[in-house]
Amino acid sequence: MRRLVAQTRLDPAELVLPVFVRDGIGEPTPIASMPGVVQHTEQSLLVAAREAVDAGVGGIMVFGVPREGDKDATGSCGLRADGILNRALRALRDDLGDGTVLMSDLCLDEFTDHGHCGVLADDGSVDNDATLAVYAEMAVAQAAAGAHVVGPSGMMDGQVRVVREALDDAGHQDVSVLAYTAKYASAAYGPFREAVGSSLQGDRRTYQQDPANRTESLRELRLDLAEGADLVMVKPALPYLDVLSDVAEVADMPVAAYQVSGEYAMIEAAAAQGWVDRDRMVLETLTSIRRAGAQLVLTYYAVHAARLLHSGAR
Ligand code: PBG
Repeated sequence: MRRLVAQTRLDPAELVLPVFVRDGIGEPTPIASMPGVVQHTEQSLLVAAREAVDAGVGGIMVFGVPREGDKDATGSCGLRADGILNRALRALRDDLGDGTVLMSDLCLDEFTDHGHCGVLADDGSVDNDATLAVYAEMAVAQAAAGAHVVGPSGMMDGQVRVVREALDDAGHQDVSVLAYTAKYASAAYGPFREAVGSSLQGDRRTYQQDPANRTESLRELRLDLAEGADLVMVKPALPYLDVLSDVAEVADMPVAAYQVSGEYAMIEAAAAQGWVDRDRMVLETLTSIRRAGAQLVLTYYAVHAARLLHSGAR
């Protein structure tokens, strides 16, 4: 009876697995703050991607981690066709074709020596408009490398519009834009910073949203939809279910949510102590995120959850 009347269901096809690929390593490297998640080599990434596809996961979001010596002030190795991210995208697309939706993180923070998501002005602040020009070029490079979807995650104003226009001008009309619509300046990104070897000093509060604010997300949504977003996202997920619900109520585009690294780490830490049941927490949090209005969920648990679902858990 509970199954018959359940109002929310989870389906592996609605889950997206974020993955990290790191340049210059010989074997997969564990991420201490994210037990069970690794920085992949280019080879192990292909194996993990195949596993995800076989588990029925709907998409993969790829983050690149460059060699420390390749970082610079403008994040130039993030744009190069032979940079780690574009190489990985090309290999994944060659291997998987259209078997899953290949998504690419479109941001500079992994590639800059200062760790910010954009280029800096002379006074050290992040230069919004100068960054847009770099994102436009990066979007085209990622599309050329095989991304089906680009995800500009830097929270620069106007980023969706410049990315959309650049893709269209370069003949990539079919490449979609996943808008990071409501992205809050969150402590829950802590483990991610380890995962990408971030060089960040300071914080991102001049360009990411204040956790205290709710209505601002609706303005961000209006702007992103007007600028040509194909999917809109709220991030982090669980602490922002109210925002997710607001966005889902009015968005006439698919709504995503990102269960971020710190959300993963909290479940893992408590489960490792035996304080919570990992599998139930995974399915309960994902169900709650879906119930609040997310149609798709980016989660480091994508493959694990897919297997749980295949085995009949709910
Ligand atoms: C920035 C970016 C971040 C995440 C995804 N893209 C970190 C940040 O904004 O500081 C976080 C994802 C996670 O914590 O799982 N390009």
